[in-house]
Amino acid sequence: MRLLVTGGAGFIGSDFTSMALREGAHVTVLDLLTYASGAQFIEAEANAFPGRCDLVRGSILDAKLVSALVKESDAIVHFAAESHNDNSLQDPTLFVHTNVDGTAVLLEAAREHGKRFHHVSTDEVYGDLPLNAPTKFSEHSPYRPSSPYSASKAAADHLVRAWVRSFGLNATISNCSNNYGPRQHVEKLIPRAITERLQGRRPRVYGTGKNVRDWIHVRDHNRGIWDVLLRGRAGHTYLIGADGEASNLDVIRMINELMGYPANDFEWVQDRPGHDLRYAIDASKIRAELGWKPLQTDLREGIAQTINWYEENRAWWEPKKAATEARLSKWGY
Ligand code: NAD
Ligand code: DAU
Repeated sequence: MRLLVTGGAGFIGSDFTSMALREGAHVTVLDLLTYASGAQFIEAEANAFPGRCDLVRGSILDAKLVSALVKESDAIVHFAAESHNDNSLQDPTLFVHTNVDGTAVLLEAAREHGKRFHHVSTDEVYGDLPLNAPTKFSEHSPYRPSSPYSASKAAADHLVRAWVRSFGLNATISNCSNNYGPRQHVEKLIPRAITERLQGRRPRVYGTGKNVRDWIHVRDHNRGIWDVLLRGRAGHTYLIGADGEASNLDVIRMINELMGYPANDFEWVQDRPGHDLRYAIDASKIRAELGWKPLQTDLREGIAQTINWYEENRAWWEPKKAATEARLSKWGY
């Protein structure tokens, strides 16, 4: 199977590329190599799998390039996006161009060449849930995005659904909760806190710290995408989540303890405007229909492994760290 993986040099896409190569696929990564990417991870895979892994530096907004790459592929797995909520509050139109217009370009190419399309989306399209309530997101939850990032992802989901209905495109969508694991950019909660500790500073907690995220290991997310790609029903949406709910305070305390610091050794900073309270996924459909289940169900153990990865991969994240902290502190975080 020849896969075109957009955003395959990013956090989740690069892990998917590693997994798909080991499953025997041929992978062409199309990635603009923005600040969030790690081209060296794909270059290493290209060396490990000669003739089966290519990296093309380019934009999903480049319709000519996209059409040529889609034509040569059996299926497209679409990860490329601007992915950080805080950035979307500073430069919302970039998110509309990349996440909405970019998805439209890919859909048109998939339609032109009659190719299978899988769209990687987020649980944030459903807005947020109240704290301390048993409700979870399901495939039937109404779209209610809060931020420019989640609104752009919701718009992209709607485009995919429209191309299925209007043009009969063979497409699926997966909406997943918060991922953690190796190669995540240091602007995100878990790698930011770990790398703050590694550089001798204290992690920052936005607002009250009571906001809840439903954590899943990146490889479990990608195993779910793989199952949907191979066996998902055309036109269907699958929610992926590992029942990993934890408050931001729980996560920061866990990182502090695992790294040998007092649990409450952190700094309070201002809250994110429009900050979603809680995300939680009901993954019954993918579990029942495709037999998927998460393998890493111990968040503490998964975070301990992630800490080890950041300790051992300073060469990748250290050059990104100073600019990220300058940016976040300018915005009050
Ligand atoms: P990321 O920011 O780490 O990686 C995004 C990648 O897309 C980068 O390599 C970047 O260079 C590339 N990219 C950006 N603009 C591009 C363009 N115009 N053309 C080609 N490539 C471009 O993001 P991530 O966390 O790996 O997220 C990947 C996808 O998964 C996104 O669609 C995101 O919405 C979705 N998602 C993320 C999470 C999460 O917790 N991180 C959860 C659910 C869904
Ligand atoms: O739910 C899936 C989404 O998860 C993905 O679609 C997004 O791409 C991904 O970035 C993530 O969005 P969040 O906004 O939840 O992730 P972030 O890591 O930015 O923040 C997680 C929580 O931690 C959020 O409540 C804000 C808080 N936070 C974040 C940082 C960076 C802190 O308290 N301190 C911090 O330093």
